[in-house]
Amino acid sequence: MDKTLRDELFQKAKQWVYEAGELIKERMNEPLSIDTKSNANDLVTILDKETEKFFIKKIKANYPEHLVLSEEGFGDKLKSLDGIIWIIDPIDGTMNFVHQKRNFAISLGIYCEGIGEIGIIYDVMGNCLYHAKKGEGAYKNEKQLAPLKEKLVLKESIIGMNHYWLCENRLIDHQDMQQFIRTIRGVRTYGSAALEFAYVAEGILDAYLTMKLSPWDIAAGIVIVQEVGGVTTDIFGQPVNMLTDNPVMVANSVISEQIATVMRKGKK
Ligand code: IPD
Ligand code: CA
Ligand code: CA
Ligand code: CA
Repeated sequence: MDKTLRDELFQKAKQWVYEAGELIKERMNEPLSIDTKSNANDLVTILDKETEKFFIKKIKANYPEHLVLSEEGFGDKLKSLDGIIWIIDPIDGTMNFVHQKRNFAISLGIYCEGIGEIGIIYDVMGNCLYHAKKGEGAYKNEKQLAPLKEKLVLKESIIGMNHYWLCENRLIDHQDMQQFIRTIRGVRTYGSAALEFAYVAEGILDAYLTMKLSPWDIAAGIVIVQEVGGVTTDIFGQPVNMLTDNPVMVANSVISEQIATVMRKGKK
């Protein structure tokens, strides 16, 4: 994608993200019409759906040839990553949104022929915008984020992960995970994959490890993290597929390799 188009799309996307954030804030104290999806804890509200529709309307009016991959099903059905694709999670951290009315984000990535060009993650209540354009660095609001510290050692690292890793699971021997957790400094669980990617980019988490994420959870984060030298792979160190769910790891390249080694050892 040439720089002129990238700059134009970034400006539009940023403006729409801020507008969507305002819409969410204006309506978040109305009844949220909470439904469940795959299970009783997989929540969706009217504002997840309305926010997604807001973006799709803007994108299709301005760029009818662009495609949209988004969580709530109002986007396009994609079979490939050809063309320009907006990958959107209208509210990432819906459980936080419902229970806490904070700690949720809008996540928007723009990909061209499978390559991440733009990433925007907006912490709506924190009024904090993480953003990046490919090759131009990553930012938190106006401030450029520093490259990740490659010298950091695993035993001094804080890793974003949730309790499922300590329960029996389909991917990794959970006793190996319990052992692994004893070797690191600590874990944090924030409940928004997009924010956890942003925190890795910011250097306040050293890695983030998760069993199953969809393309809209990670599209923006991949671009932002890459701009500070972070790498996103599956938990075994293999590339992620942007058309399916993946178990995901994001970290600096050294930590990433070390964690992948542990994961390969504990792999079921
Ligand atoms: C979820 C959040 C959560 C992660 C889940 C995601 P949603 O996204 O990012 O932190 O653990 O796997 O599905 O449904 O709130 O957009
Ligand atoms: Ca969801
Ligand atoms: Ca999500
Ligand atoms: Ca969502």
